[in-house]
Amino acid sequence: MPYLEMRGITKIFPGVVANDRVTLTVEQGEIHALVGENGAGKTTLMRILYGMYRPDAGEIFLRGRRVEIPNPQAAIALGIGMVHQHFQLVPSLTVAENVELGRESRRFFLVDREQAIARVGALARRFGLAVDPTARVADLSVGVQQRVEILKLLYREADLLILDEPTAVLTPQETQELFQVLRRLRDEGRTLLFITHKLGEVLALSDRVTVLRRGRVTGVLETDRTNEEELARLMVGREVKVARRLQAASLGEPALRVEGLVVRDERGLTAVNNLSFTVHRGEIVGIAGVEGNGQRELLEALAGIRPLVQGRIWLDGREIHHLPVRMRREAGLGLIPEDRTQEGLNLLASIEENLAAVHYYRPPLSQRGLLHPAAISGFARKLISLFDIRVTSPTAPAAVLSGGNQQRVVVARELAADPSLLIAAHPARGLDVGATQAVRRELLRLRDRGLGVLLISADLDEILALADRILVLFRGQVVGEVPAEQATQEMLGLMMAGHRPETLQADQEAR
Ligand SMILES: Nc1ncnc2c1ncn2[C@@H]1O[C@H](COP(=O)(O)OP(=O)(O)O)[C@@H](O)[C@H]1O
Ligand SMILES: [Mg+2]
Repeated sequence: MPYLEMRGITKIFPGVVANDRVTLTVEQGEIHALVGENGAGKTTLMRILYGMYRPDAGEIFLRGRRVEIPNPQAAIALGIGMVHQHFQLVPSLTVAENVELGRESRRFFLVDREQAIARVGALARRFGLAVDPTARVADLSVGVQQRVEILKLLYREADLLILDEPTAVLTPQETQELFQVLRRLRDEGRTLLFITHKLGEVLALSDRVTVLRRGRVTGVLETDRTNEEELARLMVGREVKVARRLQAASLGEPALRVEGLVVRDERGLTAVNNLSFTVHRGEIVGIAGVEGNGQRELLEALAGIRPLVQGRIWLDGREIHHLPVRMRREAGLGLIPEDRTQEGLNLLASIEENLAAVHYYRPPLSQRGLLHPAAISGFARKLISLFDIRVTSPTAPAAVLSGGNQQRVVVARELAADPSLLIAAHPARGLDVGATQAVRRELLRLRDRGLGVLLISADLDEILALADRILVLFRGQVVGEVPAEQATQEMLGLMMAGHRPETLQADQEAR
């Protein structure tokens, strides 16, 4: 008998069927992944299970017994707990106080604090959750706050723990730690429902998977017997070729060379500290690192929007560090910026104008300083079809496009400029599976055609899927360089926390 069965759950919101006769079966002691693209209905289904929404139809069975879950208190009484996407902690209180709170809310101020601290500490140790019960929540990192949320559920003796996109707010290192905690909980007999839209996480963590698309179940799979392609197809509803680096293309001349780069941040602190590296034509160099370790300042310095304190930059052998932005672009620098809505696009301008933005001052789009509207629309139409950008009209403002399509506009425009070096910062951030793979395939295709790509990303799956060589940035410096074939998630994660590869190896040998 399964631990949990949700049968024929339907939930209708005005104008949308969020869950359409969904059936979900979860076995005792498994990690069950619930995957689907944004809007697929994952959160709605879990809120129904946690008593936050009432379904319009359907039934819920726990250990074979039909249950009503009219509110979260009822869910908690049944042993169901949920960690929400937005944490529900009181920042001014300690960990122990937060854990006790709610459970004993009325008697809270009568609770013996010493005892509470001891109890919470013991629980944390038992499940391998490194948390100091006396710490104030406001002083904790996001990853640790999440552990406090998990601790709250364990304290209330939850048997089934629901986690809604728990890794969205975590660094790769914190994600690995969370996975260890979740595996430990499973091994202790708890049951976990883990929501994500990242396929790598599904494969790394879960025992079984239920896939949702547009409110309907499109697949129930054993993780061991599936793969990224199949999951992506079930999520998106059509074949998705997963972009993967095969072998390195032949290396060409250096496209970008950087020597002794020093860049400061807004506060005048050194953000990039004596950085040197080269990107050849025909290779993708990945810059991995936890965000805030100098990536943004590096990108801005390369693009010419942030001054260098020191150092030199060559593009195709030509010094460009003294050139303004536009001349760097003309020299062959392409840029897919981090925040495409702020830096990448003019949302009020039309899609056509955005596509033509880097090209407009050159023939054939303009002749002797005059813009040529017909040439601009022809140019835009070509890119729209080439990059499969979904638009109702090319003259509509870019603001009407979905995030994925806005990203395609930026990518299309940058690639059409035929750069010799493309800097891509988090190119797939915020994109759905289909658009992500399209952008990745395009980057690989360009690499094979002899373009140099500098890929800046905090997503290790992305770096591992694309980069030929990986540089790990920590506090503005490269702590290590690894060829893609030798790189593993764990090794990169440790380097992202500042460990040097030499010491990693020594550690391993010592063991
Ligand atoms: N409270 C709500 N009111 C109206 N529509 C909602 C509400 N919650 C979710 N929806 C809609 O239901 C659909 C499923 O949403 P959701 O369950 O949040 O998906 P997911 O978690 O898979 O991204 C979406 O179209 C969303 O806009
Ligand atoms: Mg959701």
